[in-house]
Amino acid sequence: MNSKIRLGILGGGGDSLIGVLHRVASSMFDQFQIIGGVFNPNWEENIGFAEKIGIPTNRIYKDFDTLVEEELKLPEASRIQVVSILTPNFLHFSMAKKLLENGFHVICEKPMTTTYDEAKILESTLKKSNTVFSVTYTYTGYPMVRQMREMIASHAIGKVQKIDIQYYQGWINPVIHNEELRANTWRLDPKKGGISCCIGDIGTHAFDMLEYVTQLKVGKVLSDLNYVYDDNKMDVDGTVLIHCTNGVKGVIRTSQIATGEENNFTVKVYGEKAGLKWEQENPNYLYLLEDGEPLRVLKPGNVYNSPLSLDGTKLPPGHPEGIFDSMGNIYKGVAKAIKKEPYNDGEFPTMRDGVRGMNFIECAVESHLKGNIWVNLDE
Ligand SMILES: NC(=O)c1ccc[n+]([C@@H]2O[C@H](COP(=O)([O-])OP(=O)(O)OC[C@H]3O[C@@H](n4cnc5c(N)ncnc54)[C@H](O)[C@@H]3O)[C@@H](O)[C@H]2O)c1
Repeated sequence: MNSKIRLGILGGGGDSLIGVLHRVASSMFDQFQIIGGVFNPNWEENIGFAEKIGIPTNRIYKDFDTLVEEELKLPEASRIQVVSILTPNFLHFSMAKKLLENGFHVICEKPMTTTYDEAKILESTLKKSNTVFSVTYTYTGYPMVRQMREMIASHAIGKVQKIDIQYYQGWINPVIHNEELRANTWRLDPKKGGISCCIGDIGTHAFDMLEYVTQLKVGKVLSDLNYVYDDNKMDVDGTVLIHCTNGVKGVIRTSQIATGEENNFTVKVYGEKAGLKWEQENPNYLYLLEDGEPLRVLKPGNVYNSPLSLDGTKLPPGHPEGIFDSMGNIYKGVAKAIKKEPYNDGEFPTMRDGVRGMNFIECAVESHLKGNIWVNLDE
């Protein structure tokens, strides 16, 4: 009998960036089987892609509403159980809401919605639905990020006193200086991306990472965003000062115009006793910095790591793991939740994290637009 969880996919077609990551991640621990979906709004592309990657075409649907309608006609034992939403941002909310209302589990790309209000509606929908929901803040699945969280929780660095998270990319640099490209990039279109580009796309990763590794809550933010051109409605760079509710201060520095940068996501947390530093482009190294001591480097799979970190490592030490493994670990956590097996809170980002992320985006934009003032996040 096939005991795999039946997975449907929305978006993530052959023309997409993120589709392949979810397909590989979902198959990594033999927990999920892709049953069907809508990869692309264009039928030829949609069905053609399904054929190309070898998915039976009988459950490839012409659009999202048809998927829900047809799947609900099937007996529960063969129906799609969980749907991954990998479309541009403006489609996430309506898709996720309808899926939850109809009893499907949901794995949703970030940012979870385009507004904070939508996020709160989704959260109340989930509460009534008896389903599992995850928002894919991908980077929280890395073994050494998990190790960082566990070390901070066990006071290995002492009381946290400074947080510095940098997420620098350069890919928008050629786009922003070309009017045609600028007009045709959905991340720069508020109707498709939401109210923010840089903070919405990567600032939200940085914010989630801050709360994930420190388990502190951000209380208020003060931001200074950069739009480069007056006719550009979306930020492409921004610095956000952070005050956590316990008084710890930090900074989130994000940019999509950091010329030449690829995916330079660097997380630094300093405590009274020591500091920890992790760099996404070199994710198998977690640096431990101590006064007057040589730099120490922790690596995945070693016995000195926490159970949460080791659970996300598949091979013995020395076999590098990367972004596919990180997303694979999130899918693994979601599978445990769907199967009602025990899991650690740090195994996958939840609806709450998605709601916090939307609250952060709106507060950061509001702070900038009101003249760089402090704006409080909700509890
Ligand atoms: N977690 C991460 O690190 C990460 C990285 C990249 C992108 N993302 C997120 O993933 C989402 C998609 O980003 P992307 O870069 O892959 O976008 P993309 O533009 O490369 O791909 C979007 C895909 O959605 C499909 N699509 C569009 N409308 C559709 C519809 N109505 N029904 C079905 N499919 C539809 C397109 O055909 C395409 O295949 C965004 O929300 C983005 O923020 C997350």
